[in-house]
Amino acid sequence: MMKILIKNIKQLVQVEENPQLKIVGKEMKILPCINDAWLAIEDDKIAGFGKMDDWEGITDWTNLTVIDASDKIVMPSYCDSHTHIVYAGSREGEFVDRINGLTYEQIFERGGGILNSAKKLMEATEEDLIESALKRLNEIMLQGTGAVEIKSGYGLSIEAELKMLRVIKKLKTISPLTIKATFLGAHALPNEYKTRKSDYIKLLINEIMPVIAKEQLADYCDVFCEQNYFTKEETIEILTNAKKHGMTPKVHAEQLSNFGGVLAGVEVGAISVDHLEFISDKDIEALKNSKTMPTILPGAAFFLNLPLPPARKMIDAGLPVAIASDYNPGSCPSGNMNFMMSICCIQYKMTPEEAINAATINSAYAMDLSKTHGSIAIGKLANVFITKEIPGYGFIPYSFGSNLIETVIINGEVIETKKVK
Ligand code: NIG
Ligand code: FE
Repeated sequence: MMKILIKNIKQLVQVEENPQLKIVGKEMKILPCINDAWLAIEDDKIAGFGKMDDWEGITDWTNLTVIDASDKIVMPSYCDSHTHIVYAGSREGEFVDRINGLTYEQIFERGGGILNSAKKLMEATEEDLIESALKRLNEIMLQGTGAVEIKSGYGLSIEAELKMLRVIKKLKTISPLTIKATFLGAHALPNEYKTRKSDYIKLLINEIMPVIAKEQLADYCDVFCEQNYFTKEETIEILTNAKKHGMTPKVHAEQLSNFGGVLAGVEVGAISVDHLEFISDKDIEALKNSKTMPTILPGAAFFLNLPLPPARKMIDAGLPVAIASDYNPGSCPSGNMNFMMSICCIQYKMTPEEAINAATINSAYAMDLSKTHGSIAIGKLANVFITKEIPGYGFIPYSFGSNLIETVIINGEVIETKKVK
């Protein structure tokens, strides 16, 4: 049995004696920590933790690695419950177009945006896509992420959507990160279907979903519910069928306007509704009695200069909130969860405790992983990171843009930085 003991930890963050599936409303202000702590890992699991004062020492030193974390803090790895990390090429040309005055919607209407990425993806081989996605996965792993959801949605045809999902399935086996896959065929309407939207929806439901179910290619199904993309009714239709094919619903909701995505998500029992820049009071009410996790994507709102999602208001209304990166080439070319937390603290007036809860246990919930990820609890997967010498967890969102992570442990193994850079 491989064992790791991390000792003299200045602050062990997000420890749970009685693990919870999510942290809700004002509870989000509470972040349980142990100062001057130890953490023991056996094989790929967390085996124990406590205060250094109460540590009784070790009798069996076989296969034991000891790490001294004096003046450093240890946190559970981030869970990034919303990304589009499999893509081809990049879109910095559109970035400049937006600097020069075009909007995200205008770029889409010219055939850019998601359709631009779809064109590039069509030409890429599975090997190309695996190689570039793996680089990004390694990048976010070193930035503290331990579990990630990845969507299709730049395929928009039977072949290309399945190609994306098969790439994600392959990534599950070659990356040490925990990965969940999402079918996002309803990301945009491809040009060939411009006048035949219902045929495209039929293609998603009748042609692609059965293959996904047969090959077990996706855990979730997502829809971009938005003007010029998919309506509330279409969202409900697609997600109701997805459930029949074994996929749990998610929704891209209220990003560019209030368009019914939250209500559609609650109606079909979505595990999360994501974006929420234009969420209404009625939507907030609907979420209150649901199992759906409201998820904000601060990087996308920042990159597209969108209005801020009212995270403070949602938490004060008693909702849980999760954070994810939305890592993608069009609206957020970064998967750095440390920076996402900084945005939440600086712009949305979330406290560091709320931001950390949102980026760990609540985002784990948004990908059905809170039983195994998202906190330091006995029996959970040993996905944790050790920082450089810092005063405490609040220093992470405070020092926006800095990389404060020194050591990453995934599945109970120390990641050798040189090998993954
Ligand atoms: O989450 N909103 C829709 N989809 C992505 C953006 C995709 C793209 O522009 O490539 C998002 O922001
Ligand atoms: Fe997205």
